[in-house]
Amino acid sequence: MDKKFQTALIHAPRKAGQYIETIQPPLFRASTIIFRNTDALFNRHWTDDYDYSYGTHGTPTTFTLGDNIAQIEGGKYHLLTPSGLSAINLVNSCFLYQGDEVWVPDNIYGPNMEHLNYLESHYGIQVRVYNPIDAATFQPTEKAKLLWLEAAGSITLEFPDLIGLVKKARAHNILTALDNTWGAGLAFNAFDFSDEHLSVDITVHALTKYPSGGGDILMGSIITQDKALHHKLFRTHAVQGIAISGDDAAQIQRSLPSMQLRYEQQSRNAVSVLKWLQTQNAFIQVLHPSLPDAPGHAHWKKICTDGHSAGLISVIFRPEYDLAAVRKFCDSLNLFKLGFSWGGPVSLVMLYKLREMRTLENTHLQQGLLVRFCIGLEHPEDLIQDIQNALKQLQPQHK
Ligand SMILES: Cc1ncc(COP(=O)(O)O)c(C=O)c1O
Repeated sequence: MDKKFQTALIHAPRKAGQYIETIQPPLFRASTIIFRNTDALFNRHWTDDYDYSYGTHGTPTTFTLGDNIAQIEGGKYHLLTPSGLSAINLVNSCFLYQGDEVWVPDNIYGPNMEHLNYLESHYGIQVRVYNPIDAATFQPTEKAKLLWLEAAGSITLEFPDLIGLVKKARAHNILTALDNTWGAGLAFNAFDFSDEHLSVDITVHALTKYPSGGGDILMGSIITQDKALHHKLFRTHAVQGIAISGDDAAQIQRSLPSMQLRYEQQSRNAVSVLKWLQTQNAFIQVLHPSLPDAPGHAHWKKICTDGHSAGLISVIFRPEYDLAAVRKFCDSLNLFKLGFSWGGPVSLVMLYKLREMRTLENTHLQQGLLVRFCIGLEHPEDLIQDIQNALKQLQPQHK
């Protein structure tokens, strides 16, 4: 058929689908996905496994990334969301109903707590807090539906008794959801951890961190091993219209081959910086799960059998260093940039007023201002030098 110029521009003669083999999988961008005919339209299974019907439900690009993340984490079914936080929120809004009880560790990722507080005030969900290093404080009632886990906590880096908590949740028929961003599927297998082959039910992962690795792309995942759970999550994902960009998925896909190398290098760099930090007088406490006196160290050792510990280290300044002094320290750093997040090439620093962030009395933590270092891919000797220079700027305020 002869086409007018305008139509010919749109319906060009060369069609996609003439694949060549490339290192990276082809990138699909789609809102509309074209059905071959009405048979294909009426036989579509958008609620089933990874069928193609509309851009929000997925494309080969997003399914390829999801498959890879599920494989890295040791799970089976996957959903991708536009950020780690949206993955967390999806789990909360999928499984919590009015009157249900949800349990969270006191060191939970702050915006998760904010979302749960929102659900509490709007929908009557009851939020209960347990001490991440004392599994006995998890005391579910018959209303409990969901237990959140973080291993390790992303600011104070306590490693919880995953074995004890998951067993107790199982005994009470409570779903377990692990924020797996720190372990990233590399420090331990959340779907088969410990020699007892325990498994959490759901993992969420801020792919923004190690899988992206660039400090530039936001994304989250939800991984399960159970088809029924996945379908519940899938329906919630679909009705909420959650979708990710194919371009973003392709960028993360491109970073995956180097993810383990980056993770292990950042883990090693962090240990080098950690050793030096421990020798410094300015800090009353240095937090990292590999330290023998770290809260939850024994649990870390049992679960993270390869000795990985991601790139996060926190320090608590001695109380004589007031807010102005610790701010000066942060502002004096040069290689470390002041910013949220982690897992990218550039080392980051963040200052926290710990006392304002916790519900329980945290006797395992010293009083003082907390600074978290996220170790990037720079040489650790340069990072140590940077911290040393910033510490020299400090004058303790004797009270
Ligand atoms: C432990 C943890 N979980 C989830 C998130 C949320 O990820 P995103 O920034 O992609 O929303 C973060 C972000 O800092 C995090 O630290």
